[in-house]
Amino acid sequence: MGLTTRLLVPVACVLFLVGGRVQSQDATFWNDQAKQTLQSALNRERTLNKNVAKNVVFFLGDGMGVSTVTAARILKGQNMGNPGEETVLKWEEFSSVALSKTYGVDKQVVSSGSSATAFFCGVKANNNMFGLDSRGRDGDCASSIGAAVDSFLILAHRAGKSTGFATTSRVTHATPAALYAHTPKRSWENDGDIPTEEAAKGCTDIGAQLVENGHVFDVVLGGGRRELTDTNETDPEYPDEVGQRTDGRNIIEEWMGKKAADRTKYVWNLEQFNNADPAETDALLGLFEPSHMHFEVDRAGDEAGEPSIAEMTAKAIKILQKDPHGYFLVIEGARIDHAHHGSNAARALTDTLAMEEAVIKAMELTNEEDTLVIVTADHSHTMSFGAYPLRGNPILGLYDDGEGSDGMPYTTLNYADGPGGEIERDSYNAVGRRRNLTNVNTGDIDFKQSAIVPRSSESHAGEDVAIYANGPMAHLFHGVHEQNYIAHVVRYAACLDYKEHCDMSSAPSRHGFNLRLILVTVFLSVRFWI
Ligand SMILES: *[C@@H]1O[C@H](CO)[C@@H](O)[C@H](O)[C@H]1NC(C)=O
Ligand SMILES: *[C@@H]1O[C@H](CO)[C@@H](O)[C@H](O)[C@H]1NC(C)=O
Repeated sequence: MGLTTRLLVPVACVLFLVGGRVQSQDATFWNDQAKQTLQSALNRERTLNKNVAKNVVFFLGDGMGVSTVTAARILKGQNMGNPGEETVLKWEEFSSVALSKTYGVDKQVVSSGSSATAFFCGVKANNNMFGLDSRGRDGDCASSIGAAVDSFLILAHRAGKSTGFATTSRVTHATPAALYAHTPKRSWENDGDIPTEEAAKGCTDIGAQLVENGHVFDVVLGGGRRELTDTNETDPEYPDEVGQRTDGRNIIEEWMGKKAADRTKYVWNLEQFNNADPAETDALLGLFEPSHMHFEVDRAGDEAGEPSIAEMTAKAIKILQKDPHGYFLVIEGARIDHAHHGSNAARALTDTLAMEEAVIKAMELTNEEDTLVIVTADHSHTMSFGAYPLRGNPILGLYDDGEGSDGMPYTTLNYADGPGGEIERDSYNAVGRRRNLTNVNTGDIDFKQSAIVPRSSESHAGEDVAIYANGPMAHLFHGVHEQNYIAHVVRYAACLDYKEHCDMSSAPSRHGFNLRLILVTVFLSVRFWI
């Protein structure tokens, strides 16, 4: 089966720029391109992949709204010397695309933990908590008792598959933690974070739940050592830093203690990670920072070294794919979100492209006949992409054809709110003007895009995000879906709890000619002729 837009790549390569304008795009160019896409769409009708998903690889771009994807694709193309707009990201070749409505039970614009409960656990939840249904109330331990809901990673483990996750944030941070923890407060990452009276009602911190529930996972990679070790433990990488737990527990050692000693490895730097041979390793815990891992562009500055998200993905797949029963892997590009919160589009886009490298790796190492690959986001951000720049205008640059009505230049990427929103004040603090960006290098990696509303942390946005899917049952993503539907498609595709279609799994029905259909046809024919 051809990926839908594989044919677009060579077409994109014939573009060239003359004097800043794209040439050779007459009617023939667009008609030929559209005909190729149409042919792919027609072929798709005949080749729906109805196999059982033996494996699932799920990518979550935290905060990766559609404007982020568009801008990242342009940056990728421009980094290669092209105009950029015509670039096709790996997941844009996938066979199916749909939209995900991200609102939560209580909020119009959702937090990461609440939305993670939707796409991992299959039910929408309240703000600032995860792994709980709508009975869970913010910071209220009692409300969480009996309200727990499990992620598809836990269900996959129960179904006998190998499981794992990798993130660039702390492994106890809201999105990855929703895979194994149930908490009414996302900030309860170690025991010291929980008020004594709430702990007394029976709530445990997220770090502790990484061993209580998450010991069943075979691969756990990310940052967050400080949430798993006590204040009496010095960090191996930063001698001035200690853990944050106050209960004397070392969750890293406890997690290791749950596994077969000779086939389990703990690594905290790049060299150890590189030395972990997947053939010799059945369980891998990697914690590369006390808090979050670095942004992709800052990784080189880490002396101890840490793997890229693509390297974590490749290692995880190679460890997990030894399991003949299949595996589930969740990968989070967590820091796209953090860069946006800082009004820093450059790092948001470079981390998006780092996650694309990971998706490319996953597609190389898996087979679309038996592996469902999903790429989606938990929510969007307020970054907009506007003005009327020429084709090929630098995506991190200034609008090339005019100024605002205040006579000052502006970037084509901007935020509705955030720390880029500082307004110059006159001596009476009465009249505000926005920043004058004349002669400012807006392409600098640290540049903060302007924002209308000043706010210390830019906010999430409420519009729909995209779901890209390829492999078994990808076509079940076909329209505008509630976000919690995603978990149900995963569970259906892999026959976790939806099983009605699974008795045919021994005879894969790749083209819809399954045994049941043939028997019914024969039966009806015989009846007709008797
Ligand atoms: C930290 O304290 C705990 C509990 O008191 C103890 O078991 C552990 O050995 C201590 N760790 C270090 C490095 O001293
Ligand atoms: C913006 O800065 C430039 C360069 O310093 C200056 O020439 C221009 O007058 C400024 N624009 C406004 C509206 O202040």
